[in-house]
Amino acid sequence: MEYVTRLDVQVPKIGLGTWQMSTQETYESVSIALEEGYRHIDTAQLYDNEAGVGSAIADAEVDREEIFLTTKVDPSNRSVRDIVDSVRGSVDRLGVDTVDLLLIHWPHPLANLETVMDGLNRAVWEGLTHHIGVSNFDLDKLERAMDLSEAPIFTNQVQFHPWWPQRELLSYCQEHDVILTGYSPLANGGAIGDDLLREISRRYGKSGPQVALRWAIQHENVITIPMSTSRTHLKENIDIFDFLLTRAEHDRITRPSYLKTGIAMAKGQLDL
Ligand SMILES: NC(=O)c1ccc[n+]([C@@H]2O[C@H](COP(=O)([O-])OP(=O)(O)OC[C@H]3O[C@@H](n4cnc5c(N)ncnc54)[C@H](OP(=O)(O)O)[C@@H]3O)[C@@H](O)[C@H]2O)c1
Repeated sequence: MEYVTRLDVQVPKIGLGTWQMSTQETYESVSIALEEGYRHIDTAQLYDNEAGVGSAIADAEVDREEIFLTTKVDPSNRSVRDIVDSVRGSVDRLGVDTVDLLLIHWPHPLANLETVMDGLNRAVWEGLTHHIGVSNFDLDKLERAMDLSEAPIFTNQVQFHPWWPQRELLSYCQEHDVILTGYSPLANGGAIGDDLLREISRRYGKSGPQVALRWAIQHENVITIPMSTSRTHLKENIDIFDFLLTRAEHDRITRPSYLKTGIAMAKGQLDL
């Protein structure tokens, strides 16, 4: 495993995403992932599977302290009290005392950002999370969140793959030491049959998805959270630390076009 360090925490560059998994599927995938060496799990109140994550962690032969656990607040919680109460619900369902990272899932258009940041800070103060961050924030909103928050913003979790490389936001995150957590690194499945990824993968005896994940984590300050329900894919997705894409390959893979993203969104209904 490779890591990004932020605020003295070593975060595994590959975590397991759990969107669109039932509680049972989540239990099975998280259990397999922990067996296979994953130590970073991403869930959300809105995924309705925190209990599955919690049971898998409780049953695994891995100490809780070894796992970097993230959940996200449902943005319909718009008061400090609602945010904190919802996070209490999350830690109960997850069966833990504290999560490692708590994000606001997206900026709700009717929410007051200052109140939301107060709610996340209150969750830190109450010991419900070690760190806080945001998700689906553009650069302006990220800057505002950073200004409004007493606790440092640990990460901004955004869609990040070869067709959505987030150049401006990524530079800002790198300059300000905010981790960019890339979600949908396989474009929600859209990257899987890609010809260029396949062509490059052959040189290394890897698969196209492995090249997409390698592309993501070769960016400074980027971690990523592919989702899978298959043991074969789960193993494959962390078997990416024994090869290095060249600069030229990395540049070729970066193809900012919203076409594939549009397809992925239509197919997978990305939860934006
Ligand atoms: N913050 C947000 O708003 C937000 C939004 C979207 C996603 N996310 C997070 O990001 C995570 C990942 O994104 P995602 O779920 O959209 O999709 P993704 O990780 O880009 O792609 C998942 C799809 O790829 C397949 N897959 C995984 N590894 C593979 C491999 N090695 N070979 C072939 N197919 C493979 C999976 O099927 P199998 O199950 O068959 O492997 C699944 O259909 C989510 O689960 C969630 O935790 C966050």
